[in-house]
Amino acid sequence: MNKIDVLLGLQWGDEGKGKIVDVLTPQYDIIARFQGGPNAGHTLEFKGIKHILNIIPSGIFHADKQNIIGNGVLIEPLIFEREIKGLKEKGVSPNDNLFVSKKAHLITASHRMLDMANELAKGQEKIGSTLKGIGPTYTDKIARVGLRVGDILRSDWLEKYNDLKENHLRLLKSLGHDFSSFKIDEMSYEEYESKWLKSLETLKTFRFINSEYFLNDALKNGQKILAEGAQGSMLDIDFGSYPFVTSSNTITAGVCSGLGIAPSNIGRVFGLCKAYCTRVGSGPFPTELFDETGDKLRQTGREFGSTTGRPRRCGWIDIPALNYACMLNGVTDLVVTKVDVMNDFDVVKMCTQYKIDGKETIQIPFDLNEKIEPIFQQHQGWKSNLDGISSYNDLPNQLKKYIESIEEITGVNVAIISISPDRKDTIFKMKK
Ligand code: GDP
Ligand code: IMO
Ligand code: MG
Repeated sequence: MNKIDVLLGLQWGDEGKGKIVDVLTPQYDIIARFQGGPNAGHTLEFKGIKHILNIIPSGIFHADKQNIIGNGVLIEPLIFEREIKGLKEKGVSPNDNLFVSKKAHLITASHRMLDMANELAKGQEKIGSTLKGIGPTYTDKIARVGLRVGDILRSDWLEKYNDLKENHLRLLKSLGHDFSSFKIDEMSYEEYESKWLKSLETLKTFRFINSEYFLNDALKNGQKILAEGAQGSMLDIDFGSYPFVTSSNTITAGVCSGLGIAPSNIGRVFGLCKAYCTRVGSGPFPTELFDETGDKLRQTGREFGSTTGRPRRCGWIDIPALNYACMLNGVTDLVVTKVDVMNDFDVVKMCTQYKIDGKETIQIPFDLNEKIEPIFQQHQGWKSNLDGISSYNDLPNQLKKYIESIEEITGVNVAIISISPDRKDTIFKMKK
């Protein structure tokens, strides 16, 4: 029996997962998303095409590969419909190779209003949610009142839907809101809801499956599967910078619950990090730069959210956080992306330890909001253009030193280095 490989982010999201999944897809038969939902924005670039995916796995541009939306994922049918339309406009036929778990939960228009109301209620303490309804929908899943994809085929579907909606409207009222005060994607609630209900017909044109059987049978039959993570380990509901996190397990453990895969059937784990670090939304970020170096990373790296367009906060690479994420995920292969963004830096810094209350530590504290002083190791910049480089040996020596010190400190091999948004600019590094 084959094992399932996993690819996920080790930082606060946007590490380049979409690009690397697309690059690795030829080596697999199936790509499966296991958690998150339209809060994700995964960018793919190839042959002059740039495309951002939210709910749909990043293997979708490969017509001969199957793509699965697993039970752990949240689907917002109207956003899903827009995604399908965008793919069809680019000549992709997703109905042929996209399968949807019957157990995936649905984000409704009222979940999205609740997300807005919750953020408003938090005021200064807001999480900076993408407002796609993620928190309220996972809350309903755990409270055992959620709506699942399979429910839309039931004869009592509308009754179930209306019951949940009424509950949400009562909850909104108790928070001091009336639903007419919210706009969802520039539309009134009524307009959005009516489009949302219609979009269920698009969802119904896809094959609904029991993805746990589908995937386990595929492994038994010798097929190769790659599980695609969303967000990043520092946004994990249990281990991230709580409460400034998303509402799902973004780590490898999420593959087991989000796809129905036994822990013993997890194979390689590709962990992605940028050569620096970013975060979008609120919450602690120990290595954040508030100066012109941070601005330079943001401008050169085009660090503006794929889903929301918000500027991403930028800082140096954070090794204590990276070590923590490697431990939690069982990373077997590191992937370092966006290396080219630092081509023109005289000095590149790496945070190797935190100083908390005068003590140096490499451990992530209970509360990342504590006063943390990052301790940096300085590296000389490589000051050269990487265009056209396809072999590790041809990379500048200073860059190789930087990569090798990441390997040394984390104890994990760097397998892949990404040097541009394009599929073709990806370097595979052999194990030493
Ligand atoms: P994801 O959420 O992890 O899939 O990442 P996003 O797509 O949200 O953000 C990554 C951004 O960086 C996208 O705009 C990518 O096109 C881009 N990108 C990915 N890899 C590289 C790289 O190696 N170099 C540069 N310059 N950009 C990259
Ligand atoms: P990808 O898959 C970066 C952040 C939000 C917010 C917090 C909670 O593209 O890497 P949510 O909408 O989940 O309630 O927001 O998590 N966030 C992300 N940041 N990349 C993402 O996904 C993210 N998904 C959520 O900005 O701070
Ligand atoms: Mg993203």
